[in-house]
Amino acid sequence: MDRLNQRSTDPAVQEMIQKAEKDGIETVWDRFESQEPQCGFGNLGLCCRHCLQGPCRINPFGEEPKAGICGATADTMVARGLDRAIAAGTAAHSGHAKHLAHTLKKMAKGEVKDYRIKDEGKLLGVAQRMGIETKERPAQEIALDLAEAALADFHEKDTPVMWAATTVTEKRVQVLKDLDLVPKGIDHEISEIMHRTLYGVDADPLNLLMGGIRCAVADLAGSYMGTDLSDILFGTPTPVVTEANLGTIKEDQVNIAVHGHNPVLSDILVTVAREMADEAGAAGAKGVNLVGICCTGNEIMMRHGIPSCTHSVSSEMALITGAVDAMVVDYQCIMPSLATVAECMGTTLITTMDICKIPGATHLEFKEETAAENAREVIRIGIKNFQRRQGKKTSIPTKKETVAAGFSTEAIIGALAKLDGENPLKPLVDNIVSGNIRGVCLFAGCNNAKVPQDHNFITIAKRMLRENVLVLATGCGAGALMRHGFMDPANVDQLCGDKIKGVLTAIGEANGLGGPLPPVLHMGSCVDNSRPVAVAVAVANYLGVDTDKLPVVASAAEAVSEKAVSIGCYAVAAGLPTHVGVMLPVLGSPLVTKVLTEKIGDLTGGYFIVDLDPESAAEKLLAAIDERRIGLGI
Ligand code: SF4
Ligand code: FE2
Repeated sequence: MDRLNQRSTDPAVQEMIQKAEKDGIETVWDRFESQEPQCGFGNLGLCCRHCLQGPCRINPFGEEPKAGICGATADTMVARGLDRAIAAGTAAHSGHAKHLAHTLKKMAKGEVKDYRIKDEGKLLGVAQRMGIETKERPAQEIALDLAEAALADFHEKDTPVMWAATTVTEKRVQVLKDLDLVPKGIDHEISEIMHRTLYGVDADPLNLLMGGIRCAVADLAGSYMGTDLSDILFGTPTPVVTEANLGTIKEDQVNIAVHGHNPVLSDILVTVAREMADEAGAAGAKGVNLVGICCTGNEIMMRHGIPSCTHSVSSEMALITGAVDAMVVDYQCIMPSLATVAECMGTTLITTMDICKIPGATHLEFKEETAAENAREVIRIGIKNFQRRQGKKTSIPTKKETVAAGFSTEAIIGALAKLDGENPLKPLVDNIVSGNIRGVCLFAGCNNAKVPQDHNFITIAKRMLRENVLVLATGCGAGALMRHGFMDPANVDQLCGDKIKGVLTAIGEANGLGGPLPPVLHMGSCVDNSRPVAVAVAVANYLGVDTDKLPVVASAAEAVSEKAVSIGCYAVAAGLPTHVGVMLPVLGSPLVTKVLTEKIGDLTGGYFIVDLDPESAAEKLLAAIDERRIGLGI
């Protein structure tokens, strides 16, 4: 594989890599190369700096040193390291959800004017699930109770974390109870991980791992809450057709790239950008062109059809086009290098959150109380930069793909209801039983500089589709697949096996699309991994089985973030065989590796498949699907 293909399989990204090289701009891949060879101890999880006696390293070949200064063994070190990654991932997803809970609360109390309840049906549904009285009560009052219930889920109280206890099957609640894996409070679990992984506390690798899995269940709760509250405030996604890749950036418009995660900022930007078209026109632009990056891009794509320009590891490439007039970010997955690249390209990186400031960026604090005003300020910076850009050469790749997105759980059930109004899950289950749908595979997580961008995702997805597996995607996994045409219904013929093609066509036609659904269903951002969980739970309940019996698998084929680690762990806690396509820093402990890839299966039914080769990973995922089919007797 040549150097360019080694970096990314996306032709638009490759074009920009070459431009960056020509212009002498350093990218993520240059920095990756200068890090090589990477630390072997770190790769295996065998370095520790949890205390000031350290750092300590353990010899992976069984020779001295066999323990850290305190006596921590490889097993202890690896389990502690993994736990902290889970806690960080949980803190991120639930921090995002907590932010939304505060926004909902302020909205319910009438303290913010730019937010409202967009989906009252969802508000009622979620409130009822939480045991909140909804009859003959004003929506604002219910919303206030729901916001309080959400905030209460963060600390220890009489009830467990409700967003966990009410969102999985009853059988799963029992499994989790029996294993002491029901979280008491989201923040409580995160803080307990920090306590038990402190110098001289928990040294038992199994005890540490179980604590980590419980924290991961809290991560599911935080993520689920994030989805619920976003849908209430900004609307539950419905199918929408749009585009993806760098070709969505427009030479003659004010291009504002929105990067990060929380729709609390980006959703307001969508409205304000539309309102400011005239102001942009007065500056000589044909309009304001909002384009998404990473998950906040997924959020506004799913709800408003805003195109996504790129994802994850290639975020710098959007700036390299020379046509992005401002990149506005909230938090998570934002490489600090973006500030340097923005400066090189004469544009502005705008940070908006007090917990995410970046040297070299312009900080413009975003407050819900002044949301629209703040959004206007952001867009004005873009308009000014657009004027400055005039007469300068830009290099926008032409490549873009059609994307049909917006497949929330509700949208999927709604589409199935067109086949069977009384029993929408029946057509789905019947097709699984008949083998038209061999199984379901969810792609999630990031792109990683260690993997040629998108290579693992597209290799595994191609195989799954050929084998008649229904493919779902979220996060930058969805980003990868959308940039390669996997969400364009026109590509069903080319990508899908005959049986799954028949299913996608039947659903598409029953919904008046005149053709099939796209090969891969885009279910949203990373917090929206809650959506496929909701579908799996609904199917499990319909069949009267638990989620670990379903022919459903997951793959974080190019994972980066600690959020991917916590998601992977909650998928395992929910009973799913879960593939990770990059090295997890656990291999330094044969015990922890064995527990995560085998033994945990005896407890939760789920387990990790760590395989860096996408071809053999696909094989293993298919085998896991088939094993579950046999288990169900189908
Ligand atoms: Fe070393 Fe133990 Fe301190 Fe880790 S906690 S750095 S293994 S002494
Ligand atoms: Fe994400």
